[in-house]
Amino acid sequence: MNSIDYGEKIPNNVLLSEDRALRRALEQWQPNYLHWWRDMGPEGSQDFDVYLRTAVSVDPQGWAQFGHVKMPDYRWGIFLHPAEKDRRIHFGEHLGEPVWQEVPGEHRANLRRIIVTQGDTEPASVEQQRHLGLTCPSQYDLRNLFQVNVEEGRHLWAMVYLLHKYFGRDGREEGEALLERRSGDQDNPRILGAFNEKTPDWLSFFMFTYFTDRDGKFQLCALAESGFDPLARTAKFMLTEEAHHMFVGESGVSRVIQRTCEVMNELKTDDPARLRAAGVIDLPTIQRYINFHFSVTIDLFGADQSSNAATFYSSGLKGRFDEGKRSDDHLLEGATYRVLEVQGGLLVEKDVPMLNALNEVLRDDYIKDSIGGVERWNKVIEKAGIPFHLMVPHKAFHRQIGTLNDMKVSPEGRVVSDHEWNQQVERWLPTDTDRAFVASLMGRVVEPGRFANWIAPPALGINRQPVDFGYVRFD
Ligand SMILES: [Fe+2]
Ligand SMILES: [Fe+2]
Repeated sequence: MNSIDYGEKIPNNVLLSEDRALRRALEQWQPNYLHWWRDMGPEGSQDFDVYLRTAVSVDPQGWAQFGHVKMPDYRWGIFLHPAEKDRRIHFGEHLGEPVWQEVPGEHRANLRRIIVTQGDTEPASVEQQRHLGLTCPSQYDLRNLFQVNVEEGRHLWAMVYLLHKYFGRDGREEGEALLERRSGDQDNPRILGAFNEKTPDWLSFFMFTYFTDRDGKFQLCALAESGFDPLARTAKFMLTEEAHHMFVGESGVSRVIQRTCEVMNELKTDDPARLRAAGVIDLPTIQRYINFHFSVTIDLFGADQSSNAATFYSSGLKGRFDEGKRSDDHLLEGATYRVLEVQGGLLVEKDVPMLNALNEVLRDDYIKDSIGGVERWNKVIEKAGIPFHLMVPHKAFHRQIGTLNDMKVSPEGRVVSDHEWNQQVERWLPTDTDRAFVASLMGRVVEPGRFANWIAPPALGINRQPVDFGYVRFD
């Protein structure tokens, strides 16, 4: 089961050749997918040879093979993590029962909704990022963008496989709808808010892959616990791909910061105007981008209290992050959890049933994880001897979902008046001027080994290749 059949039109390790109806359905979906990729995938890049990794096995070691391929020829396929023998449901009302290999009738609607919501984010991010190749800061970065894009395309395949195999006609219709919605479209947008935002520049891209792909990690970790075994296994393999996306984000922002610090020290200034004149992104602007991407991303976890979240957990469909490593009863019946609410103009904590607060539990785990990289960015600033500290904003800042929706809260977590918000918001969130400045830096640098002025080169190349390797061939 671990090895992948590349002799098939659709590479897979799910014995697709033995299920002719399913294979036929997926082979009918395949040209529609390629059509979508041509329309909505990376702009103007169809003929480039890109140094991409492709899965050759789902073993943790050595799953990837690297080589130059044209993106439309990328071998998108269906790869599931190996099945675990005698796996049992380890949380919720079905605790201890064998995992499901088919969809239980009573959970069908909820499972479909979970899979469609996850599936919808995958093509959405490709659509959001489709113009970025035109303004890449280097070949190395261009290659990383394309790698992320083809893998998000593969994540769509992963979800469409589940829809086709387990949800019959409904599933096939959902598979088509996933190719029809468009990020940011007025009439037929993607399902979740953050996936309808623009990713207009590379600083946004790095922030997105750091913060928003990390939301993907947490959602996938929760789904990797699922009692529906095919979902758990596909989520597990997707996680190995996701790790690279977050690396692209963390190292990308880090290199932007490093370059800014170099110029700050050269010019001996922290004046944003002088730094901008020197063509680098000042640290307060980077902080505002963090504030924006962090707040938009934590909304993705949903309302702080949600009966759906309770149902998904109790019925064994979606666990907590690291469910298997937790030592409580995995039922959570009497357990409580602290959520925030506003009382008399102040943020206060209150205890609510944990089952209803599982979105908040996952959001808090996410927040802990996302702080780690920000601290590593601070190390870069510290090493340069610059007294400036980046931080993630308070979780009540700039929220649009749940109890905190539309509350006016500062990045430090102070409830503020509308008046103060309007006065300060330009210090807290990227302004049109910030965005226009960042956009003005976005040229196209494609000579091997050259980097745009606003970003430092990486310490290492991809797959032990030199930094000035020809990662993308243009002719
Ligand atoms: Fe993904
Ligand atoms: Fe991703």
